[in-house]
Amino acid sequence: MAEITRKIGLSLGADICWPICYEALLKQLDLKLSIGGDTVRIESERVNIEPFGLLQDCSYDVVIDRLTHWYHTSREWIKTKILVNDLYVFNNPWSLQSMEKQTTYAAMSRLGFPVPETWMIPPKRYAESNDLQPTLTRYAKLFDLGGIGDNIGYPLYMKPYDGGAWVGVTGIKNRQELLNAYESSGTRVMNLQKGVEPHDAFVRCIGLGPQFRYVNYDPGAPLHDRYRMDQDFLPTDQEQQLRNMTMVINAFFGWDFNSCEALRQDGTWYPIDFANACPDSQVTSLHFHFPWLIKANLRWSIFCAATGRSMKTNLDWQEYFAIADQDIPFEEKMAGYVSLASGHFNVDEFESFCATHLPHLDEVANGFFATDIVHGAIGEKVAALYPPHETEAFVELFWSRVQEWRRKDGVGA
Ligand SMILES: Nc1ncnc2c1ncn2[C@@H]1O[C@H](COP(=O)(O)OP(=O)(O)O)[C@@H](O)[C@H]1O
Ligand SMILES: [Mg+2]
Repeated sequence: MAEITRKIGLSLGADICWPICYEALLKQLDLKLSIGGDTVRIESERVNIEPFGLLQDCSYDVVIDRLTHWYHTSREWIKTKILVNDLYVFNNPWSLQSMEKQTTYAAMSRLGFPVPETWMIPPKRYAESNDLQPTLTRYAKLFDLGGIGDNIGYPLYMKPYDGGAWVGVTGIKNRQELLNAYESSGTRVMNLQKGVEPHDAFVRCIGLGPQFRYVNYDPGAPLHDRYRMDQDFLPTDQEQQLRNMTMVINAFFGWDFNSCEALRQDGTWYPIDFANACPDSQVTSLHFHFPWLIKANLRWSIFCAATGRSMKTNLDWQEYFAIADQDIPFEEKMAGYVSLASGHFNVDEFESFCATHLPHLDEVANGFFATDIVHGAIGEKVAALYPPHETEAFVELFWSRVQEWRRKDGVGA
């Protein structure tokens, strides 16, 4: 019988609030897990940025990564550690690096998801390069943008194929608006997507491992009010649909942490934005939902570290395509995808792990989110985001929403 310590690395950028809460709650849990006759302790540590050689040791078992999508030294460090040291990382960095909105639309359309009709168009302008003119002169065909728009139908959305944070997204009501929007789209490669308009609901489903949170989302509200606080606003079967959709997307692309935006029209959920691996984790956006995220992150990372979960370096798409290509109703295909995705996330093993090893998490967390540590973390985050004269009011707003979570959702969430 040995005492083993598993280490979780936090690969962070400007993050302020969630790591403070993650680290402090992990300490309060004071885990001594009895696994296979050993006592397993779990520690966390922030990952530093420094030079590294190819075959160096790695002191981490799991890394929760917030940098890969834009800080390339860390991306390469993570890829190296997976290749050389069997590190487990949220999320698969190769997939994160290469999958854009466009690829996710294509893949999920192939699986039969109701992705609205989507086209890619070549960009209006190009940065000059040596081979550009011969390439365009020989191969770039003049195309009828208005005709493509008319065929998709209006309203439609023009948005960067690799976009995020609403940058460059334009709602378009007619052919002339489409031509104008393309004129000013610059060098960005754009998708045109049929508008799901009108819709009667907009949900952002956050997935962390096999754990899901359905957030009623109001894109028109100011930042601190976009994530609505209502719960139980969806019938159970619709929650299940959104859960299944998000789980399949995340398993398919090897993402542990992602969010899927879907709009409901005539009872159907249309996924419109689900290449959001590593979504917003700040208390200033999530507020009421923030404790859920911290707990979900702890559960999944502790499970991965304690069980020595290994990184799936092959994404096994053919298994999904084999189901997609069958002549069976979509519901049956979905059941097949869900079964693959549940296997990917080891859903049963994870649930029994949590029941056996983390039975005290709900209660400890419920107490923790009433402490000065959490109040201080909110204060630091708010101070970094809001002007000084608004700080106090916003700290109290977010704090009161976290307390609201404790009352409504705290134990047993
Ligand atoms: N097909 C669509 N139908 C209706 N609204 C859309 C559609 N695509 C985008 N939108 C609107 O534009 C916003 C931004 O587009 P989205 O695809 O989510 O890009 P981003 O990655 O920048 O968030 C969405 O939150 C939604 O309000
Ligand atoms: Mg979006």
